[in-house]
Amino acid sequence: MRIGIVGATGAVGKELLNVLEKRNFPVSELRLYASARSAGRSLLFRGKEIPVEVLPETPLPVDVVLASAGGGISKRYAPIWAMQSVVIDNSSAFRYEPDVPLIVPEINAHAMRHHKNIIANPNCTTAILLMALYPLHKAFKARRVIVSTYQSASGAGASGMEELLHGTKEFLAGHPVEHKTFAYPLPFNVIPQIDAFQENGYTKEEMKVLWETQKIMEDPQIRVSCTAVRVPTLRVHSEAVTVEFEHPVSPEAAREVLRVAPGVDLVDDPIGRRYPMPLTATGKFNVEVGRIRKSLAFDNGLDFFVAGDQLLKGAALNAVQIAELLQKPITT
Ligand code: A2P
Repeated sequence: MRIGIVGATGAVGKELLNVLEKRNFPVSELRLYASARSAGRSLLFRGKEIPVEVLPETPLPVDVVLASAGGGISKRYAPIWAMQSVVIDNSSAFRYEPDVPLIVPEINAHAMRHHKNIIANPNCTTAILLMALYPLHKAFKARRVIVSTYQSASGAGASGMEELLHGTKEFLAGHPVEHKTFAYPLPFNVIPQIDAFQENGYTKEEMKVLWETQKIMEDPQIRVSCTAVRVPTLRVHSEAVTVEFEHPVSPEAAREVLRVAPGVDLVDDPIGRRYPMPLTATGKFNVEVGRIRKSLAFDNGLDFFVAGDQLLKGAALNAVQIAELLQKPITT
């Protein structure tokens, strides 16, 4: 396949190169695109330097466009790219359009069948949550979900990572910490705001978790309440999750389900102090799930903790998995 990466120099773009390489994706030609700021740069793919091109206003000469340059760019150009290519879009620009499939391959690959050349990649927090929630939902039917997130700086792209690293050095040197990407300085702080506040008091990031969970799990009845918080880690989103189920559930039964769930690593050994963490989930394709226990708040509920590398399963890996599905007949 001829592949084009739009936003190749960004945090997700670089991971797209890494994932294509690691999964041995059959790339016949790779084109890399970014803004004029990146003119003259090149990036390494399979030992070869590939030049970064300034994104043109025209369709791109590739079979698949992996887009990760933000919602504004996708909104403007994806319809143009879709004239000649299949677009796998990492932004939220098209996720809620009824005729645009929103795909997590382990969950709803079948929904790709009728795509019209634009396929949306979910919000990173939602993708990581659903890797654990969906298998449990299939087994025990989830009704209400309460999620509190611990989201890393890289969720805000390369500039978020840089701001955290630079700000931490400034803080430790006793200097004032400047901030631009985040609403407040992130080092040694947590910020309970990701994206803009909505009329109902939730942020858009928090609402995305509800909207996208309902769409991907094809269950408009499921209720999800999220509090999304930025924390000073570089990679990996962690989430504390409480779920009320319709069918009887127990931690042992949940562990059995999650032990064989695709894309999940069950890391649940409190005595051995093994549980999901950014430290262990960084760079991993699978999402870690652990701390599974009977909820004390609901009669038939569970509490658990997940940690997933949001640049991978929350973005680049999921996008490449979608591209892989384009190559084979969809059977699920
Ligand atoms: P550039 O590095 O040239 O600014 P991140 O999510 O890490 O912030 O990365 C955003 C990505 O989107 C980068 O690769 C960035 O390129 C790219 N990008 C931003 N604005 C544009 C634009 N107007 N045209 C093409 N690419 C863009």
